[in-house]
Amino acid sequence: MERIGVLTSGGDAPGMNAAIRAVVRAVVARGVGVFGIRRGYQGLIEGAIEPMNARSVSGIINRGGTMLQTARCQAFHDAEGRARAAAQLRELSIEGLVVIGGDGSYRGAQALHAEHGVACIGLPGTIDNDIGGTDYTIGFDTAINVAVEAIDRVRDTAASHDRIFFVEVMGRHSGYIAMMCGLAGGAEEVLTPEEPTDIPALVAALRRSRDNGKRSMIVVVAEGDDAGNALQVAKRVAEVSEFTDTRVAVIGHLQRGGSPTAFDRVLAGRMGVRAVEALLAGEAGKMVGVRGLELVLAPLSDAWEQRGRFDPEYSRIARVLSV
Ligand code: F6P
Repeated sequence: MERIGVLTSGGDAPGMNAAIRAVVRAVVARGVGVFGIRRGYQGLIEGAIEPMNARSVSGIINRGGTMLQTARCQAFHDAEGRARAAAQLRELSIEGLVVIGGDGSYRGAQALHAEHGVACIGLPGTIDNDIGGTDYTIGFDTAINVAVEAIDRVRDTAASHDRIFFVEVMGRHSGYIAMMCGLAGGAEEVLTPEEPTDIPALVAALRRSRDNGKRSMIVVVAEGDDAGNALQVAKRVAEVSEFTDTRVAVIGHLQRGGSPTAFDRVLAGRMGVRAVEALLAGEAGKMVGVRGLELVLAPLSDAWEQRGRFDPEYSRIARVLSV
């Protein structure tokens, strides 16, 4: 393989830059050509492909976002879009592609590999940590640390006013961010898409906490909770209880930006090098994951077939700790 491309796709995540850097430098170290593709699959279809070198990725290890930019590309869902993308790669003799993104991005990589023989390797880059085949995704650690810092700040003002706060964190389909933030932030309640939310039961739990002497409380709400977002949950609680003077804080995209933690940078560096070495060893249609301390290669399809990392044990622990 003489030429390898790299792109970031789907929602950006802190540590994507560190991953791009690792991929580029690992390719350079092997004397192979490396190309950066802008705006994910969208840029691939449009031919927004530029040669890179070791210096192209200087000074980005500490930067959030992605220097290559990213997109959620509708056109790549169609065979025609993928054929155009494959033609762009053929034109530049790029045979291997490292795709940094979530499971949606991997589905695209899988199709590109199956239909056009492009050797693709996935790197898990998403704040949601909701991909099968790996214990951690790049960006998750940073995102939860940002959100926990925000929760700590909310707690200060909540305690000063004896208030209940509903704090919304990201996770349209996944409650993993919410649960980890709830545990680390000492939340009284955590609402996730994975577990049905019962408003009367939530009210009963808040009353129990109050009867146990708590004067302020934090309820962490995943944006994709089945009872609605934090504003809607607060409204529904107010409609059926005495908890009418509550406040809502939406952390939202703040937790997607900012400098990646050391954990995310190291993970990105290790995974990036492994992805390139795998490609050059002839692997394709696989993703790099981490299991415990070890890096592993798994089929791309594990990303969506092996999901379900959400463990109800976390909820149990959260309940024990919030008494
Ligand atoms: O998948 C990452 C993520 O940040 C989710 O947590 C969130 O639900 C979604 O992306 C938001 O996407 P967008 O930035 O396109 O609104």
